[in-house]
Amino acid sequence: MIEHKTMTQREIHINYQEFKSVDEMLPEDRELAAEAVKAMEGAYAPYSHYHVGAAVRMSNGQIVRGANQENAAFPSGLCAERTAMFAAGARYPDKDMQSIALAGGVMGRLGSQPATPCGACRQVMAQYQAKSGKPMSVIMVSSEKIWKFDKVDDILPLIFDGI
Ligand code: THU
Repeated sequence: MIEHKTMTQREIHINYQEFKSVDEMLPEDRELAAEAVKAMEGAYAPYSHYHVGAAVRMSNGQIVRGANQENAAFPSGLCAERTAMFAAGARYPDKDMQSIALAGGVMGRLGSQPATPCGACRQVMAQYQAKSGKPMSVIMVSSEKIWKFDKVDDILPLIFDGI
């Protein structure tokens, strides 16, 4: 048997809140969750038929929406979260992104399980969080439950923090 003299077993803990209804949430989170659901209307998803909406809350109180946009050349399309964050970054370059909410469902009908962001969108969230120097919360909405993560680190452990 190999003896491990220097190896340490470590753990990473992730905390998040689960709400049964948006009514249990802080008013500003409830508003952002509702904005993400409304943003699903902007989805253009002729291939997957999976509609995703996202809403970003800026430090000046403005909310910027985005929705997934697909393309016949598949990789040219973009997720709702990045559509929203890039629009928010372009519109308010000097403001911080405090929070992002997302919601998704087949054919535009809100799903019963929270929509979870893809890895590329998590990386983009991580960078805007680092740019602001403050935690950016992530809210994942569904018809049966809502998850809230207080910071991007909780959905992207060991963030690549750049060059
Ligand atoms: N999609 C998003 O917009 N956000 C996600 O977090 C995951 C996936 C979109 C991309 C594509 O248009 C469709 O959902 C199916 O993958």
